[in-house]
Order: sequence, then structure tokens, then C-alpha cells
Amino acid sequence: MVDNDVKRILVTEDEIHRACKRIGTQINKDYKGKELVIIGLLKGCEPFVSDLVKHVSNFLITDYMKVKSYVGTQSTGELLIKNDIDVDVTGKDVIIVDDICDSGLTLKKVSELLSTRGAASVACCVLLDKPEGRKVEVNIKYVGLDIPNEFVVGYGLDYNGYYRNLPYIGVLKEEIYKK
Ligand code: IMP
Ligand code: MG
Repeated sequence: MVDNDVKRILVTEDEIHRACKRIGTQINKDYKGKELVIIGLLKGCEPFVSDLVKHVSNFLITDYMKVKSYVGTQSTGELLIKNDIDVDVTGKDVIIVDDICDSGLTLKKVSELLSTRGAASVACCVLLDKPEGRKVEVNIKYVGLDIPNEFVVGYGLDYNGYYRNLPYIGVLKEEIYKK
């Protein structure tokens, strides 16, 4: 069972639920009467996008982009677009949603890309932020929770593809990384 590999729970299911509700409520206020394009960054964004949009009452379209900036626990510092969005963002108010911001590279590059494609506005939203990991400056409009500079898994976040199905955010036991 995946739970057995978790050393400690950092963010509970209840805290995640409350963060989704708080951010959704804020988005409703900030974008009142506007139509939105929510762009999730696969695969980590999946549970967060689905829970977040339940609290947003605007007319909105969701689309997904698959980008890769990580191998194991190390950032490669490169952004590779593996799957692009279908939606035309020209003149649209866009919110990019990701699981976590670490170096900031992913969100910086994706927001720059969508701006050059002519979006009316581009905002970033993450469930988790690791401010200590920042390498480039990026403006994140919505943050669920700040966490320390530790590698975490669960609720979409993976280690080598696993642990995304944990309903909470946790820290893995050291021996898992040595396998
Ligand atoms: P950034 O480009 O360094 O900000 O990294 C963002 C991406 O790195 C996220 O979308 C995650 O996929 C991945 N990432 C960063 N920190 C963690 C972590 O603690 N656990 C799992 N994935 C992470
Ligand atoms: Mg990711």
C-alpha cells in the first residue's frame, strides 16, 4: 500500500479542501462576470483542477498542457512541451493551475508562452508553494499553502510516477529514494 511509504503527512485532506474553497471564492470575486480559461499542467494538476473548479462559478473552459521540468527529485531547468492545449487563448483571461511551484521555471515559461499567444491576462495558481526553492521570479496570484523546501508526494504530486493517488500531501521515508 502506498501509505506505508509515507513518513509524515504535511497537508491533510481537510486543509486541501479548505484551500480549494478559499481560492475558488477569491477567483469568483476577482473575475466576476468574466469567462475563464483554466489551463492545468499535467499530470500533477489533476486532482487540484477538479476540486478547485467546483468552487468557481464563472463560465469556464478547462484545457491541459503536459510539460516536463523534472527528473527524479532534481530540476533540469528545462521546459519541454509534450502536449499542447487545443484552446485559442487570444483575448481570454487565463489561469494556469499547477500542483506546486518550486524553482518557478515551469510557471514562468508557461505564462510567458500564453502571453505571447495573446491572452488578455495570465494568472498562476498553485496548491503548494516552496518559496525557498525559487530560482526565477514569478508572480503567483493564488497559493493554497506555503511548504518548506522538502520533496513531497500525493494529491497529484509524484515520485517517479507513483503516489499521485494519495489523498493528502506527504513526505516519503528516506529509504524509498535509495531503492
Ligand atoms: P518548478 O518549475 O521548479 O517550479 O517545478 C514545478 C514542477 O516540479 C511541478 O509541476 C512538479 O511537477 C515538480 N515538483 C516540484 N517540487 C516537487 C515535489 O516536492 N514533489 C513532486 N513534484 C515536484
Ligand atoms: Mg508538474
